[in-house]
Amino acid sequence: MSKKLEGKIAVVTGGSAGIGLGTAKRFAEEGARVFITGRRQAELDKAVAAIGSNATAIPGDASKLADIDRIYAKVTALAGRIDVLFVNAGFYEVGTLGEITEEHFDKTFNTNVRGLLFAVQKALPLLSKDASVILTGSIASSIGIPSFSVYNATKAAVRSFARSWILDLKGRGGIPRLRRQRVRHRRRADGRRRRRPVLIGRAAFRDRWLAEAAE
Ligand SMILES: NC(=O)c1ccc[n+]([C@@H]2O[C@H](COP(=O)([O-])OP(=O)(O)OC[C@H]3O[C@@H](n4cnc5c(N)ncnc54)[C@H](OP(=O)(O)O)[C@@H]3O)[C@@H](O)[C@H]2O)c1
Repeated sequence: MSKKLEGKIAVVTGGSAGIGLGTAKRFAEEGARVFITGRRQAELDKAVAAIGSNATAIPGDASKLADIDRIYAKVTALAGRIDVLFVNAGFYEVGTLGEITEEHFDKTFNTNVRGLLFAVQKALPLLSKDASVILTGSIASSIGIPSFSVYNATKAAVRSFARSWILDLKGRGGIPRLRRQRVRHRRRADGRRRRRPVLIGRAAFRDRWLAEAAE
């Protein structure tokens, strides 16, 4: 049976443990070459051994833009493109309202929101035409959990990013560009012009495109 990801290049951030490691293993089983990231080299080494010869570890901190650049530079040098980007690295710790510190806020938002945003944005030039971008969200984005308001807010941001980015990125593949349409009038059988133009104008085109993107 053919494998679903044969020949594909996948990047999994936070791929040395938990959900990221499980996903990286599955991607490799399906034939992908997998790049995993994480901060701890020892964990990355163990993960590569568990995933197999299709895996390469690139150490880096998801919250640091310079690390993201370095990781993509290595992916570019070794594989040249990304077909599947799984932005999964995430951080949580308890933070009860009344005791939330600047450090807690910054660490959580810098990893889960800032880091995720730039992991996607900086990957754009590397993404192949039909690439998949997957973000790890959480049910925490839409429910209240005591002492986790900051983490939950980061996951709400991730959900919000996804909803807007599908619109931003929709034009990358086969979606028609927004350009001025020349309106033609198809003739009736008796040679007279139809009252309504056949081609749709620019605004209607954009509205239909946005409606399709939001489905
Ligand atoms: N577990 C759950 O129940 C659950 C539920 C919903 C959503 N999630 C989300 O799922 C994702 C993965 O969670 P998990 O439970 O699988 O976590 P995990 O078992 O703790 O694994 C986290 C992975 O991310 C890496 N990581 C953490 N912070 C990083 C950073 N700043 N830079 C680079 N790598 C980093 C870790 O490696 P290093 O520590 O070596 O960097 C590790 O590889 C997170 O986004 C989390 O919010 C988890």
